[in-house]
Amino acid sequence: MNIMKKNLLETHDYYRERVNSQLELYLSSISSTKSSSNQLKDIMKYSALAGGKRFRPILTYTVANLFDVEIEKVDSCACAIELIHIYSLIHDDLPVMDDDDIRHNQPTSHKVFGEAQAILAGDGLQALAFQIICNDSLIDSAIKIKLLSLLSTSSYAMAEGQSIDLSIVSQKVDLKVLDNMHKKKTGALLNCAIKFGALLNNTSGKDLSILDSFSNNIGLAYQVQDDVLDVTTSDEVLGKRQNSDSIKNKPSYPAIIGVEESIKTFEALYQEAMNELSLLSVDAEPLRLITEKLMRRSY
Ligand code: IPE
Ligand code: IPE
Ligand code: MG
Ligand code: MG
Ligand code: MG
Repeated sequence: MNIMKKNLLETHDYYRERVNSQLELYLSSISSTKSSSNQLKDIMKYSALAGGKRFRPILTYTVANLFDVEIEKVDSCACAIELIHIYSLIHDDLPVMDDDDIRHNQPTSHKVFGEAQAILAGDGLQALAFQIICNDSLIDSAIKIKLLSLLSTSSYAMAEGQSIDLSIVSQKVDLKVLDNMHKKKTGALLNCAIKFGALLNNTSGKDLSILDSFSNNIGLAYQVQDDVLDVTTSDEVLGKRQNSDSIKNKPSYPAIIGVEESIKTFEALYQEAMNELSLLSVDAEPLRLITEKLMRRSY
């Protein structure tokens, strides 16, 4: 492995550790009155600090670094996108949604705290995501509005994608329907994570539209790959249940075109995304490397 590649992989570990400690700080700083219990905060922490690959914040830090944004200015956005992701997972696992009992190798929130508290923990994480960007004194107000606008649009798109997902259970649908659903339920937050990095530097125009197109390909690829991993990978490695989709009769790429063709599909999407990076005005090697890492992920 060459030195640059080794350094970039070590940088991903640094970003992961950084987002973990920043999340801990933000969650611990939630104020509660003396008389109230900290129960909701602890339920939020249970899911938010359980692990996860942290790919969304790693993407935010990586893109921000390409555009020379100081790392202290990136923390709130990196954490906000991960908080929205974690909230989406808590709700996704509920009995009325995917009804899953294991996430990040531990019992899902509703299994430990009950459905009502799990729903509220998701609500709390979503609110906290917006609050930490609002309260970040390092970010210029005009940029903050752009960040918050993108975060709200992307969070809505995620919810809409989840709504489509649940509305087509047990139905025969074509790939166009799946693509639209995947781009919303998974692509939108990845798009937000990536564009956050550029918006923090007030980037607009060509670079932002290249990143938009890049992240749309990544978003679709990431969910097609998630559906493949659901079929091919054990509970222990995934940290969640294998075959969750087929057990619930969820339409998926592997169910429609098979595992081999699905792998080809997501690899082609990642490849297309990587090809677009050469058009950026900045050196995109770190972003190309993380895309390769996403493409090769095993869980
Ligand atoms: C799982 O996402 C749900 C999808 C949107 C595909 P991740 O695989 O990124 O979740 P983590 O790494 O467990 O947080
Ligand atoms: C989830 O998709 C997408 C979200 C917005 C949470 P999945 O339902 O396939 O995610 P997993 O497999 O449970 O992580
Ligand atoms: Mg789901
Ligand atoms: Mg699920
Ligand atoms: Mg899945």
